[in-house]
Order: sequence, then C-alpha cells, then structure tokens
Amino acid sequence: MLIRRPADTIPSEITNYEVFRRRRQLIKGGAAAALGLAATGLFALTPEASAKLKFDQLKKSRFNAKESLTPYKDVTSYNNFYEFSTDKEGPAQLAEDFKSRPWSIEVAGEIKKPKVYDVDELIKRFPLEERIYRLRCVEAWSMVVPWVGFALGDFIKTLEPNSRAKYVEFETLHDPKRMPGQRRGLFGSVLDWPYREGLRIDEAIHPLTILAVGVYGEELPGQNGAPIRLVVPWKYGFKSIKSIVKINFVEQPPVNTWQVQAPHEYGFYANVNPKVSHPRWSQARERRIGEFFKRPTLMFNGYAEQVAHLYQGMDLSKNF
Ligand code: MTE
Repeated sequence: MLIRRPADTIPSEITNYEVFRRRRQLIKGGAAAALGLAATGLFALTPEASAKLKFDQLKKSRFNAKESLTPYKDVTSYNNFYEFSTDKEGPAQLAEDFKSRPWSIEVAGEIKKPKVYDVDELIKRFPLEERIYRLRCVEAWSMVVPWVGFALGDFIKTLEPNSRAKYVEFETLHDPKRMPGQRRGLFGSVLDWPYREGLRIDEAIHPLTILAVGVYGEELPGQNGAPIRLVVPWKYGFKSIKSIVKINFVEQPPVNTWQVQAPHEYGFYANVNPKVSHPRWSQARERRIGEFFKRPTLMFNGYAEQVAHLYQGMDLSKNF
C-alpha cells in the first residue's frame, strides 16, 4: 500500500482466563513444571514453554472458512503494520519485545457510559471463539487465519449506544518510543498517526465482525496487533486496525487513515470487490500466501451471503 509519494458460546467451554494468566506468570518464573500445572489438562506445556498466553477449548464458529490455514509462520512474519515498518518482515522483528500490558481502551462518544477498559477485563468478560477467516489485503495477497476473539457486537450491546451513534471510529496506539515506524524520518511521517479506521454501526454489530485477541490459539504477537485488533473479513485488510486504544461512537462518517493518505485509491467502505480495480492494479485475482497460482477474488471475500444486504442499492464502484 506504500505510496512513494456465532455466536452462542457455552461459558463452561471457555478456559478460565485467570488460570491462563497465572500460568504464564509461573512459566516466566520457571515454576510451572515444578507445580505440575500441565496435569490440570487446561494447558499443554509446549516444548519451548513460551511465555505466550494460550487460549484453549475455544468454540468453533459457524462462519469458519473450510480452506487450508496459512501456516503460523507466514501469518506472523508477513505483515502490514506501518507503526513498526513498511516491509513485510520488519514488524515481526521490530515488535518482538512490544509490551502489550498494561493496556487500556477508551470507549467514548454516543453511548450511555463512556469508560476506560483494561484489555484483560474484556478478555475475561466475553467468551472467546475461534474464527477461521480469509484475510484479503488490498495489495492482492490473501491468507486464511484462525483468529481468537469475540463479536464486537456483543461488546457494543453492553455499551448502550444512542440513536446518534451511526458510526464507530477506532484508533491505534500512538507511541513513537514503542512503535519505531511512527518516528519522523527525513521525509516526514509515513502515515498521519495515529492509524484510524471506521465502520458503519450496522457493519460493526454484524456477527462476522470481531475484536481479535489471539491467533492460532495463542495471544496475538505484536506484529499482528497485540493485544487487541479489529477483524472485518469481507473488507480489505486495512480496515482491520491493530493495537486499538480508542473506540468512539460518532454521528458522522469517520475518515480512515488510508482515505486521508490517498482518497482516490482507498475509500471508507473498502469492501473486497473483484470488479472494482485499484487505480494501479486489478483486484480480480489474488495470491494466496503459500500458493503458486493466483486464484479469483470472491465478492465480499466470499462472505456475500452474510453481508451483501448491508449494501443494497449502493453503487459499489463509487462507494469503494
Ligand atoms: N493497523 C495498523 N494500526 N497499522 C497498519 O499498518 N495494516 C493493515 C491492517 N491493520 C495496519 C493495520 C493492513 S494493510 C493489513 S493487510 C492488515 O492489518 C494485515 O494484518 P496482518 O499483518 O495481521 O496480516
């Protein structure tokens, strides 16, 4: 993108989050094996005994894609995260030591009770599901990713938005000390920070839209948007904003970062649409990471049945 110039999860199926966190602290202290926590059956001690939080016994979603998963290595080493680097491999290297705790998310605007949440409060509160989604980048590559998360709509319901809440605006952390890509270079900033995204409220509460906190059953690594990011599978990947610190309910359409950067190339909707070309390349086909031959891109990234009704009567070549 560089411009040179379901639902009903049964609570008992969900691994106790407190236990997860405690175990992680123990692993960090090297005491886990001594205490034999693996024997509880809640956790499989991995050989590397990484300090990564693992989410277990997740409920599978009815929306899961039936295609082969993109390997963990590719999902976590081929990234777009300009806050770290504009290279694909850069974010994994530069976000390796990114500290995603403590982390708070300010929720504000047209809702009953604006509040600042701790990310762990949200993880504990909403049952986590595995959501295997296709991810289609506007750059014409794609992956299939097993996210762990919860429906954004479930969270929004608890916030009691009022009738003026027509859009939801999201913001990524702005902290050049921790995100080296945000530092000003010789030619200024790469993007207008903080990274911002927005959805219409009906898109935000659609059951496919999730806040992801993990991938492949583990907490999100820094390069994938730790500790919490949006995933909107029928839209180009740039809508799926990473490392969110603010969610704001507003009456007017928010302006998203890529729209500011190049309004003729990136719109507000960004629905995957093989019939509408990017001004500089076709969107008809895509390169699935790990595959040799390109494959056709599907309307709404294959989620037309679930989402086409949201855009009835709209000219999608104008509302791109
Ligand atoms: N969010 C922020 N804050 N900064 C970014 O640069 N890149 C977007 C999106 N979210 C980006 C972001 C783009 S272009 C894509 S394709 C996806 O993240 C990539 O997500 P992934 O690296 O987890 O595959």
